[in-house]
Amino acid sequence: MPDNVPRAIAAPLLDWYDAHARDLPWRARPGANAPDPYRVWLSEVMLQQTQVASVIPYFAKFTARWPSFADLAAAEDAELMAAWAGLGYYARARNLLACAREVARRGSLPETEAELLGLPGVGGYTAAAIAAIAFGQRAVVVDANVERVVSRLFAVTEPLPGARPKIRALTDGITPDARAGDFAQAMMDLGSGICTARAPRCLACPLREQCDGFAGGAPERFPVKTPKPAKPQRHGTMFWLTRGDAVLLVRRPAKGLLGGMRALPTGPWSETPPGLIGAPLATDWRWLDALVRHGFTHFNLDVRLATATIAAHTDAPEGEWWPIAGIAAAGLPTVFAKAANMFGRMHA
Ligand code: ADE
Repeated sequence: MPDNVPRAIAAPLLDWYDAHARDLPWRARPGANAPDPYRVWLSEVMLQQTQVASVIPYFAKFTARWPSFADLAAAEDAELMAAWAGLGYYARARNLLACAREVARRGSLPETEAELLGLPGVGGYTAAAIAAIAFGQRAVVVDANVERVVSRLFAVTEPLPGARPKIRALTDGITPDARAGDFAQAMMDLGSGICTARAPRCLACPLREQCDGFAGGAPERFPVKTPKPAKPQRHGTMFWLTRGDAVLLVRRPAKGLLGGMRALPTGPWSETPPGLIGAPLATDWRWLDALVRHGFTHFNLDVRLATATIAAHTDAPEGEWWPIAGIAAAGLPTVFAKAANMFGRMHA
């Protein structure tokens, strides 16, 4: 079918959604009032770059502890960063707090896509999603699920990321004026449950008959992607310095990777193993026979682990002495939590 023919997509998709929508904690129940904008905003920020299953427990924890913009705006930075630990992409947590404070100052979350777009941590996708889901406005919402569904519906042969403007225009062409929020979430649910990356379940799809990808016999070949260059490998050392029952933790600089998070002391993350560069003090470090591996967005990291103990009276380096038995409550980002587990295990 040529691109310029409007298709009957929204109606069968919304019918399917009415019967099969996922019951997610930030959604309004069918027939209920509109969802709380605070919960929609919080969920959409958490869902940027993170899977639904990983977000659910964090969403429960945050909404129990901070049920409104005003509550979250009053949180301490360190408290919020620790609660976010493990969810990744920590700039989101810093922006979350800045945004909550801005909304508390204004009195409410703005309702239009254009005004939402000016808020900290709210990019094009999130502004569109909030406008549609929380405020029922017509907005074109394109996330990775929607990209996959639309590229299949229209058999888009141009590769991503170059095909983004085209996919956006195609999504615009099928977005209805009414129920834009349900439409967006229906596309997401279709993408995550039926129109999946590797083995789409076309026989269960409400859009099978309108789908060029299905008609061509190989929907899984869409979206076409430009191959990504391999991720570079970096190496680092983490230091486990104990004094009595406590271990030394530091706060990472506000700017940069994992900025503002509590962490183990670590040297540079470089192309070759940096050894003891960046150790919190010169002492008799012992190497553990273990390696911690972690994948970041732009590189993979192999971490070696060095440990030492100092006496109570030794001049202590800068940082906090954290009780080892309570390390789980320190709010360490995942790569440091992995290392702490390893140290804990090797020391036991
Ligand atoms: N991913 C991003 N936003 C979502 C939502 N509202 N529902 C399900 N998955 C999502």
